[in-house]
Amino acid sequence: MVIGFIALAVFLFLGLDADQASPSPSFSAASGGVKITYGSVIKLMHEKTKFRLHSHDVPYGSGSGQQSVTGFPGVDDANSYWVVRLQPGTPAKQGDSITNGTIIRLQHMRTRKWLHSHLHASPISGNLEVSCFGGESESDTGDYWRLMIEGNEKTWKQDQRVRLQHVDTGGYLHSHDKKYQRIAGGQQEICGVRDKRADNVWMAAEGVYLPVTEMK
Ligand SMILES: *[C@@H]1O[C@H](CO)[C@@H](O)[C@H](O)[C@H]1NC(C)=O
Repeated sequence: MVIGFIALAVFLFLGLDADQASPSPSFSAASGGVKITYGSVIKLMHEKTKFRLHSHDVPYGSGSGQQSVTGFPGVDDANSYWVVRLQPGTPAKQGDSITNGTIIRLQHMRTRKWLHSHLHASPISGNLEVSCFGGESESDTGDYWRLMIEGNEKTWKQDQRVRLQHVDTGGYLHSHDKKYQRIAGGQQEICGVRDKRADNVWMAAEGVYLPVTEMK
């Protein structure tokens, strides 16, 4: 009787598991070597300062007046999650790995707006402004970023050093220890800078990494 019950429980457990339509994502802190795929939800860490790329429903008080993007000092903030999305019309699909040179879009998870840049001046340093703009069905080429992996690996993985180059302006996603004083006190400026510098290197840190889909 007891054995029968256990067998049933095991059956139900396996049955439930097999019913899941999609592979279960793995939460991962810093295990390294995990591939970043389309649909993964990640935090991007600025290598030099360890601040996370962040946005929130607060507009810039200068430049475009669009939703502001900052560098955030804490690790645990839900406004630092970004969904790695495709360029519209690309043949790739959710779960595909991403190779060097690919153009991606980063969608801010909470507000559904896209990481965006353009020729407006950034608030503190007067470089290229980086904002969040558009929405689920509203996106343009100002949301396109080219993945550039440092080192020899061709496929994007967690903990790799990468740069993101904005396609329209050529600016690299950049941060530095220039901090906001008032509304976003303690947070630092994010902007675009056209020179390759040590301050435009990023790494995928915490996130929900969708496993790579198997080739059939
Ligand atoms: C990625 O591509 C860029 C040019 O787009 C190149 O400079 C860099 O060396 C490449 N990285 C790898 C790992 O192949």
